[in-house]
Amino acid sequence: MNKEKKGGFSSGIGFVLAAAGSAVGVGNIWRFPYLAAKDGGGLFLLVYLVLVLTFGFTLLTSDIAIGRKTQKSSIGAYTQMRPKWKFLGILTFLVPVIIMTYYAVIGGWICRYIVAYITGAGHVAAGDSFFTSFITSPVSSSIYALIFMLITAAIIYNGVQGGIEKVSRIIMPVLLVMIVGIAIYSMTLSFTDGSGVTRTSMEGFLLYVTPNFKGLTLPKFLQVLLDAMSQLFFSLSVSMGIMITYGSYVKKDVNLNKSVAQIEVFDTVVAFLAGLMIIPAVYVFSGIEGMQSGPSLMFVSLPKVFDAMGSFGWIVGLIFFVMVAFAALTSCISVLEAIVANCMAIFSAPRKKVTISCGIIYCIASVVIALGYSLFYVEIPLPNGSMAQLLDLMDYISNSFMMPFISLLSTILIGWVVEPKWIIDEVEYGGYKFSRKKLYIVMIKYVTPIMMFILFLQSTGILNMIL
Ligand code: PFF
Repeated sequence: MNKEKKGGFSSGIGFVLAAAGSAVGVGNIWRFPYLAAKDGGGLFLLVYLVLVLTFGFTLLTSDIAIGRKTQKSSIGAYTQMRPKWKFLGILTFLVPVIIMTYYAVIGGWICRYIVAYITGAGHVAAGDSFFTSFITSPVSSSIYALIFMLITAAIIYNGVQGGIEKVSRIIMPVLLVMIVGIAIYSMTLSFTDGSGVTRTSMEGFLLYVTPNFKGLTLPKFLQVLLDAMSQLFFSLSVSMGIMITYGSYVKKDVNLNKSVAQIEVFDTVVAFLAGLMIIPAVYVFSGIEGMQSGPSLMFVSLPKVFDAMGSFGWIVGLIFFVMVAFAALTSCISVLEAIVANCMAIFSAPRKKVTISCGIIYCIASVVIALGYSLFYVEIPLPNGSMAQLLDLMDYISNSFMMPFISLLSTILIGWVVEPKWIIDEVEYGGYKFSRKKLYIVMIKYVTPIMMFILFLQSTGILNMIL
């Protein structure tokens, strides 16, 4: 299929904004700040930064270059690289297939909070049981998931330039302004609690950025490293075929080296700003014990913080959830696009037809997952010790199990089978300089496969069994 027929991004910046849109998602907002607070503040920031510039750069460059060089999505791309490695293309394709079943459900939760703040129910949303009673209500949680799913499908239906790029070009700058605005506001807060203790956001800020080496042992440091590594992965949307698909839409005259750097910076800056916005605010109103991970941070702790802010709270809450909805939407469209692009190739069918079929399938899937907290409630023990409902199960399979495994195999394929030169040639195409070329070779051949293996052992719980 040629490029014109397939459609592509109109420019380098259109691509960077769409790719950053995929990378910047709920992971930046509900996971990064929590990990930073848990893993020694500035220490985590430092480790994360080093990893972005080494591992993140390696995996992102590989995915995007594979896409642009082959002009195909994951299944076709891996098959073209080495026909015997088609299985890896299929595995990679399965990651967005699984993620898509639950991403719109989370998007729906976010929309529910937007509605709560618009209708003046911010105080109600801060109640202890608001979140639980919403997700356990079969009808309302399904309807919100469906709304988010349909918006996503409508954007994909309009194609790469008319849908994805157009939406990303508007949403991403607005998102940046919103997050900077809330972060600045968050830095001005202070609060005196019932026992007369006053906490200021400056103290919270220092907690966030100052490296805390207290009680740091080697196993603890290893844990920080692995936390940062799995966060990085999820955050950059690598090893799930998404960046391969987006890479296949990039014009040959775009400087990939520069684009990769811009995506890295965008994603990391937003993650840092999310911490700046959340950690001081949570610290001021609930103390640092108030920091939690995952949905409970965003849907339980933060509404309480907004409520405690007083008359301004509902506006901050509204802007916050609109911003998160934007972040989730641009990630969600990238997941659906990776699926649609592969299906267009598999079935040789046009975009609109494939989008409608996938849209219907995922509307059903989203409802099933949304009902995982009511009608289809289950408790499945995971190897890492936690109990999973359907959504957690899908998340675990795709992110903790498949992604490190796929990265491990794809670094072996690139580093040892097709050789790094194959990627390097693509990055240098058109005479551009590959500024971290030597680093790339060492990373892809040696360091990344080893780390991915360790990460795989850790996230599947095998490492804990050995140690
Ligand atoms: N990278 C997104 C984040 O940090 O939240 C999450 C994400 C997007 C994960 C797309 C998976 C995905 F397919």
